[in-house]
Amino acid sequence: MPPLKGVVLAGGTGSRLYPLTRVTNKHLLPVYNQPMIFYPIQTLVNAGIRDILVVTGGQNAGDFLRLLGNGKDFGLQHINYTYQEGEGGIADALRLAEHFADRQPICVILGDNIIETNIVAAREKFERHARGGHILLKEVPDPQRFGVPVLEGDRILKIEEKPLHPKSPYAVIGIYMYDETVFDRIRRLKRSARGEFEITDVNNQYIEEGTLSYSVLEGWWTDAGTFESLLRANNLVAQGGANHIGTPAAARGSM
Ligand code: G1P
Repeated sequence: MPPLKGVVLAGGTGSRLYPLTRVTNKHLLPVYNQPMIFYPIQTLVNAGIRDILVVTGGQNAGDFLRLLGNGKDFGLQHINYTYQEGEGGIADALRLAEHFADRQPICVILGDNIIETNIVAAREKFERHARGGHILLKEVPDPQRFGVPVLEGDRILKIEEKPLHPKSPYAVIGIYMYDETVFDRIRRLKRSARGEFEITDVNNQYIEEGTLSYSVLEGWWTDAGTFESLLRANNLVAQGGANHIGTPAAARGSM
């Protein structure tokens, strides 16, 4: 496989965090001692990914440039940026990465997903297959808040988005690896009941073809898109799990 490229999705209105997000983008909010978006970028860098696209939108897109610049503080040579007009869900934002991906495989991470460890093992598993997709699962106490896999032995039969009655205790976390067919799959999507183009529907297309594999993530994982999960994210990082990051250059004040 050609080298994996990274895509951080950092758009959206963050409406579940109003009024915190009325004048800024959710992914610029603090999580303990760093802006939220530092964590997913560092997750990609720790997985050996050097070519990264940040997809953002709304009123604060320029702030990402000011904050991240060319990615020097993550040891990067450059960062790519693109702008999402309007709001259409995760798969709609990912559509904007097609030109950047240039038919190479990508690792997509939601800008509010924070993990304790790293995704190197998942990356290696994904790269052992010539084609398809790879997702990460984590056992959670409240799977109904997430995409939830229906499992049979080692196989995923399908993924249900925010099911009232989850059929497994796992959440599909917001880190996805895809081959170059992902953009054709996005073009085939229809809007869901909540009016969005769902990443879960993309994953289900891979499942129907038998080309979606998965790993179970080690260590903690959280999203940070609600008051409760944002508080949890702050606490988890502060308690010294302080993920894989250690103290990045940016936090050491070299910016
Ligand atoms: C999204 C996905 C969901 C996934 C979650 C992970 O949910 O739709 O499948 O489990 O991210 O953070 P959202 O945050 O859009 O509600």
